[in-house]
Amino acid sequence: MNTAASGFEPRVFSGIQPSGNVHLGNYLGAIKRFVAVQDSYNCVYCVVDLHAVTVWQDPDVLRQKTREVTAAFLAAGIDPAKHIVFNQSQVKEHAELAWLFNCVARMGWLSRMTQFKDKAGKNRENVSVGLFAYPDLMAADILAYRATLVPVGEDQKQHLELARDIAQKFNMDFAEQIDRLGLGVGADKTFFPLPEPLITGAGTRVMSLRDGSKKMSSSDASDLSRLNLTDDADELAKKVRKAKTDPAPLPDTLEELAERPEARNLINIYAGLADETPQKVLSEFAGAEFSTFKPALADLAVQTLSPITQEMRRLMDDTDHVDAVLRDGAERARVLAAPVLRDVKAIFGFVS
Ligand code: TRP
Repeated sequence: MNTAASGFEPRVFSGIQPSGNVHLGNYLGAIKRFVAVQDSYNCVYCVVDLHAVTVWQDPDVLRQKTREVTAAFLAAGIDPAKHIVFNQSQVKEHAELAWLFNCVARMGWLSRMTQFKDKAGKNRENVSVGLFAYPDLMAADILAYRATLVPVGEDQKQHLELARDIAQKFNMDFAEQIDRLGLGVGADKTFFPLPEPLITGAGTRVMSLRDGSKKMSSSDASDLSRLNLTDDADELAKKVRKAKTDPAPLPDTLEELAERPEARNLINIYAGLADETPQKVLSEFAGAEFSTFKPALADLAVQTLSPITQEMRRLMDDTDHVDAVLRDGAERARVLAAPVLRDVKAIFGFVS
C-alpha cells in the first residue's frame, strides 16, 4: 500500500470510451463495479470522447455513442445527483492538463505501452499523435480530480502505472514550488496522489462468444461475439444458443476448464450475472450438457439485462434529459478541476 495517497480525500475516477456498442464486457468488467462502489466513495464517471477520437470516429455515431454510454451508466444504477457523470470534452481542464503531462512524461515511457504497440502495429507512421499520447490524457483525467482510486481492468493497469509515474515525477520536479506555494498535501507534501487500482470482487474478464481466447469487444466484426446492452431478449437468447462450446459436459472443478476457454467463459459470464463465484456455478451445473446450461444462461442474461436494456432505450429516446445530465455533471466536474489546474499552472511558473 502506498502512503503517498494518504492525506488525499478518497475519490474514484473511471472512464469508458464512446466507441462501438456497449456490451456485456463493459457491463460486468466496468459499469457494474462503478455502481457497486458508489455507496462507499465519491465518484466521477466520464464518457471519454477525447480518447475515442484518437482513432477515426464518425461524428454522428460519436454523438450517439456518447449518449448510449451515458444511458448505460444511468440505467445500470449510477446516481448522477450524488456522483458526477459527464463527457470529457465539456471540461477543458482534461485537455489542458494532458498537454502539461505531455511535457512531464518521457518518450520512453509511452513507447513501452503495450496497448499502443498492439493498436499501432506495423502502421506506426500513420496512427494519430493522439493515440501515442493517449495515456497522458488518461493520467490527466484522473489527476485533474486528484482521484485516488481507479476501477480498471487488467488491460488498463499499465496506463494507471504511467499515471502514477507522471504524478510522482511532477511531485519531485516541482517539490520546491509546491512547498513554497503551500500546496503540498499530507506528510510528504505532495501535490498529486499516486492513484491506485480499485479491485472489487474477482472482476469478470468477459471473452468473445465465438473465440474464448479473445476479449469481448465492440470492434469484433461478428455481432454474435458479444451481448450488447441494446440487444433484445430474442437476440440475447440467440447469441447464447449460438455461442461456441465443446462437446464435453461441464466438469465440477475449475481446473478441468483450463483447456476449455469457451466453456470457462460461459461459466464466468453466468457467475458475473448471478453474483456468484465460478466454482459455485460449476457445482450447480456439474455433469450438465450445454443443452441444459445454455438455456439457463440465456434466461439469466435476459432476466438480468432486460431491465437495463429497457431503461437504456427509454433514455436514448430522451436525449434532452441525457444531455442535461452531462451538462450538469460537466459543470460540477469543472468546479473540482479548475482549482487544480489553477494551482498546477502556478506551480509551472505561468504568469496569470
Ligand atoms: N483508457 C480507458 C479504456 O480504454 C478509458 C479511460 C480513459 C479511463 N480515461 C480513464 C479509465 C481514466 C480509467 C481512468 O478503457
